[in-house]
Amino acid sequence: MSAKQMTKEKIQPASEYKRIMLKMSGEVLMGDSEYGLDSKTVKRVAEDIKAVVDLGVEVCVVVGAGNIFRGVSGAAEGMDRTTADYMGMLGIVINALALQNSLEHIGVHTRVQSAIRMDSICEPYIRRKAFRHMQKGRVVIFAAGTGNPYFTTDTAAALRASEMNCDAIFKGTKVDGVYSADPEKDKSASHFDRITYMDVLTKDLKVMDATAISLARENNIPIVVFSVKETGNFAQVVQSKGKYTIVAN
Ligand code: GTP
Repeated sequence: MSAKQMTKEKIQPASEYKRIMLKMSGEVLMGDSEYGLDSKTVKRVAEDIKAVVDLGVEVCVVVGAGNIFRGVSGAAEGMDRTTADYMGMLGIVINALALQNSLEHIGVHTRVQSAIRMDSICEPYIRRKAFRHMQKGRVVIFAAGTGNPYFTTDTAAALRASEMNCDAIFKGTKVDGVYSADPEKDKSASHFDRITYMDVLTKDLKVMDATAISLARENNIPIVVFSVKETGNFAQVVQSKGKYTIVAN
């Protein structure tokens, strides 16, 4: 290979995306356990993120807390919804620190920024600082949701993706995209390669909650729904390979 070719290869991005938001539910991190964190799964997710960082893509992450505490279910069991949501936000911080730990073990530089100040544990959310971290190739994990009750982590992901000028939100789920019905329950469910934000809202397809979808739509940020269950799939989908659904205009 000539020096010219090598230079071209070096500057040719492996992905059409420069900066992306990865949104994962907390349940992903519990693997096959009933709740909590499964260290092997957290390690695998960290390796999947590293593979994308290695493509030269800037990555930020929002993770949920369903593996630790679900605000909505707490509220359903008679707990005050606001308190339950704050407990969920603390659960997110636990997940963020676990992911940070696994990423740093494999040499990925990270920063955790929390929407609720807890300065001895992590940085507070400062948008301009988060930008600098990402420009330096660090993975920024945004913790504690939006810092407000009544907002989901999907909404936090759409909000931070908008603030950080992300090119896309990658929503990691247990299935490889959006289907007309639940593919685990209905074998005739069909897979969408592409679908509009409006279709998701009007057909109530439960990709993300309505606030998150509306924010992504207003800011014209596509949502890529893909499966995080298979090792290496995240990097494949970031390179537009494999099976996934794009939600866009
Ligand atoms: P640059 O110097 O701009 O490259 O960024 P930096 O994050 O390395 O600089 P800084 O001096 O801000 O941070 C050094 C270390 O302290 C990093 O590991 C940060 O995550 C951490 N750090 C910075 N601010 C806080 C904070 O408010 N709370 C906690 N717990 N850690 C912080």
